[in-house]
Amino acid sequence: MATETPTADQRVRGYHERTKHGPEGYAAGPARLDWATQPEPFRWWEGAPAVDLPLAAGTVRATWAELWRPGAVPPRPLDETSLAAFLELSLGLAAWKSHGRERWALRVNPSSGNLHPTEGYVVLGEDAGVPQGVHHYLSRDHRLERRCTPGAAATRRLPRAGFLVGLTGIHRREAWKYGERAWRYCLLDAGHAVAALAFAAAALGWRARVLAEPADEDAARLLGLDRAGDFGDAEPEEPEALVWIAVRDADAPPPSATAVAELGRLAAAGEWHGRANRLTAVPGRDWPAIGEAAAAARKPVTVEQAWTAAPLPEPTATACATPVPELVRQRRSAQAYDGLARPSLAALARILDATLPRAGAPFGALPWSPRVHLLLFVHRVGGLPPGLYLLPRRVGAEQELRRLLGGESAWEAAAGLPAHLPLRLLEQGDAQEVARLVSCRQEIAADGAFAAAMLAEYDAALAAGPWWYRRLLLEAGMLGQVLYLEAEAAGLRGTGIGCFFDDVVHAILGVAGEELQDVYHFTVGGTVADRRLVTSGPYEHLAGRRVAAG
Ligand SMILES: Cc1cc2nc3c(=O)[nH]c(=O)nc-3n(C[C@H](O)[C@H](O)[C@H](O)COP(=O)(O)O)c2cc1C
Repeated sequence: MATETPTADQRVRGYHERTKHGPEGYAAGPARLDWATQPEPFRWWEGAPAVDLPLAAGTVRATWAELWRPGAVPPRPLDETSLAAFLELSLGLAAWKSHGRERWALRVNPSSGNLHPTEGYVVLGEDAGVPQGVHHYLSRDHRLERRCTPGAAATRRLPRAGFLVGLTGIHRREAWKYGERAWRYCLLDAGHAVAALAFAAAALGWRARVLAEPADEDAARLLGLDRAGDFGDAEPEEPEALVWIAVRDADAPPPSATAVAELGRLAAAGEWHGRANRLTAVPGRDWPAIGEAAAAARKPVTVEQAWTAAPLPEPTATACATPVPELVRQRRSAQAYDGLARPSLAALARILDATLPRAGAPFGALPWSPRVHLLLFVHRVGGLPPGLYLLPRRVGAEQELRRLLGGESAWEAAAGLPAHLPLRLLEQGDAQEVARLVSCRQEIAADGAFAAAMLAEYDAALAAGPWWYRRLLLEAGMLGQVLYLEAEAAGLRGTGIGCFFDDVVHAILGVAGEELQDVYHFTVGGTVADRRLVTSGPYEHLAGRRVAAG
């Protein structure tokens, strides 16, 4: 009997299903880490002409509080210094850590296992002290490597008044440690990076917008990802997102799908430079389920319905007057919590308010309606009884969520919160043990002030195309980045949790079928510092590098 070839939708759903962890077993992954094939954390392009950027984070004065006040940060012109600051504060290094002879870099954008599958490219249409063309950002060296020098026709078509950032994923880098589930982490990491771009743009008075309509194939061509000869036997990169950074005229339409396709065609005819470095001397184990799912989730050109966030009151003000460069670089993942920190209800309200979609950073970067909601495991928050709570993040989503969760829950409005913050109590009681269990028994989910699970409107989203799987995880990653930075702003610390028991969460909520799926966890609390580690500055190793005045 002939077996039918699975559809793209079935492949993506099949991937999600087979990569679920549960108390009875984990998704397929390496039984132990093979250190001989540990991937190099940085990609570079051998032989590509490079521009060393000035260290420019110090020229950015905006505070975290100002990022949330519309119009508070005047736009900076696009020049070498502002471009350098933008990259430094989004995809740059945050610090180096060392322990004994081990030394590793941390970045502004976090990554599961610190493996960093996300690479960043910029497509520059204006000479910003860096030539026009397509460049790869090498964060270790704070350097732009020129991949493509476009011909005259392409140069005329390159976007003005802003620039494009392309994010790509090296799935193999993540799969080395996490096996089949690694693709999920790559997508979440890309979401963290998009939010990091949006915040860095806002700190310069610019605006980030994810392009929804272009085809992945066109993005791949524009970024040179389809140039097999330039990769040779190096690990390939998959297009994750194209982000338009509007420098002047934040409301002007970003490049269309047709413009991106045309640019891709013209760039392909340009002069390309460099060969990708190999990240492992010996090829690591391949996990074909990832390649198959990623191929099935590639996006064609689409026509998207315009969506703008329903106007909400300005978010509850944050008291955090820390300059953005300081805040984004101090962000760390907590390794352990003190089990004591008890933020006030007002502090929690502020953190949650920052997760709602508004026109500003970061969710103003998403041109689609939010589909991911927060389930909270509240452990220690002053004035809020411990228990399970739900925060619907889209106006009007509460009714739908009530239907999906069945009739058991209380759905009582949490008292003492602003009217636009619809936090609902599902069930009162100690949620520490359940939070620990569903987060792969990690103590950090129980010892913090609260933990969160991110619930995606899975069926409804995927009905619009299998690439929506990527969008759901991208949105979840962005939420994670907001929680990380808001935790820091509140004097707390967060940690993303990619390891969780998917279906146990669904069972606890009474969710049957796939209308809602858990896509990411997070935890926030008072951190216990690891005093064995020595920290040094992000770019101390670049002695003699120009420092921009400002
Ligand atoms: C998508 C994602 C999933 C993560 N999952 C876990 C996890 O399950 N457990 C954990 O302790 N840390 C987890 N982390 C934290 C990472 O290990 C951490 O971000 C990385 O080591 C870099 O450190 P930094 O965040 O301090 O820069 C996760 C981070 C991300 C972005």
